Amino acid sequence: EKGGYDSFMLKEIAEQPRAVADTLLGRVDAEGALTLDEVRIPVPELRAVEKVVVVACGTAFHAGLIAKYAIEHWTRVPCEVELASEFRYRDPILDRRSLVVAISQSGETMDTLMAVRHAREQGAKVLAICNTNGSTIPRESDAVLYTHAGPEVAVASTKAFLTQLVACYLVALYLGQARGTTWGDEIRAVIRDLAGIPDALERLLATMEPVRALARSLAGQDTVLFLGRHVGYPVALEGALKLKELAYMHAEGFAAGELKHGPIALVERDLPVVVVVPSPRGRSVLHGKIVSNIQEIRARGARTVVIAEEGDEAVVPYADHLVRIPAVPTLLQPLVATVPLQVFACELATARGNEVDQPRNLAKSVTVE
Ligand code: M6R
Repeated sequence: EKGGYDSFMLKEIAEQPRAVADTLLGRVDAEGALTLDEVRIPVPELRAVEKVVVVACGTAFHAGLIAKYAIEHWTRVPCEVELASEFRYRDPILDRRSLVVAISQSGETMDTLMAVRHAREQGAKVLAICNTNGSTIPRESDAVLYTHAGPEVAVASTKAFLTQLVACYLVALYLGQARGTTWGDEIRAVIRDLAGIPDALERLLATMEPVRALARSLAGQDTVLFLGRHVGYPVALEGALKLKELAYMHAEGFAAGELKHGPIALVERDLPVVVVVPSPRGRSVLHGKIVSNIQEIRARGARTVVIAEEGDEAVVPYADHLVRIPAVPTLLQPLVATVPLQVFACELATARGNEVDQPRNLAKSVTVE
């Protein structure tokens, strides 16, 4: 049932182009407009929303961190993202005008479920983004948008993450459409960009052999750091989480702008540092800043693994290892930038002799607090 792959994780990584395509299916009409009628929250209520709060755990939380950029960009509504396990214990400020988005692959994560219950008790509307039909979180929510990743067997979440991102972009656009902060042409353009992602992923997946070889060569390391900025920051966190859970290595993700505020002290000779580089096109200011960060860490002996868009030549002189990703709009970059990090963690874990589908101490769904 692994379809010829060595692990479910590899199979699920390979399924991502289809999972993304399936999650878009039926949500866009023939004219390229968004049709999320299944989210049965009336438009007047969507217009009345004063803040969005995303709650989730683990990888789903990282999807939420990325969703914040999209939601605030397309709706201009303030968005907070919180670990579900922290949320209800700090007595969050919620009311009828709060929209809580709960993201969960399994739909059974106890922390997220408790956050949903708490939010509804306070009168907030809850929209679940979930991969498992009929599971508890969507049943207890006001509305649900299902991701169509198909069953995810490996403990490490891969295809569910990419489809959560797609669902978050759709929700952000839908809310923007209802509130009049995003217009038809812009929505259609983003939908077109999203529709191009499955092909981009296919091309990307066909180039992963050097990433595998690099991972094997790093199997003896103790620590790997990950840096990113803007939407690349949650991608860095996700890359580090994957490495912890699969390779049992010390891995940390940082916002690149924070380097000078502490983490750069960790950099020493031969330390692998993976850097997710923003597109040089849209937000070129950030691009320049991260190129300086790469120079700084390399000057201190780090071994730089640079994930950069095709055609980005500015990074070449500072990359000990260069991983190319397809050029896509800035907000959508996590859909492609995460994939090499998944492959990297999976291969490193295998090289260290670990069982990738069933990492030690972890369960696929965490149904206890
Ligand atoms: O089923 P959920 O999406 O609610 O699960 C949340 C986390 O437990 C999950 O993403 C976990 O972090 C994964 N093992 C990450 O790969």
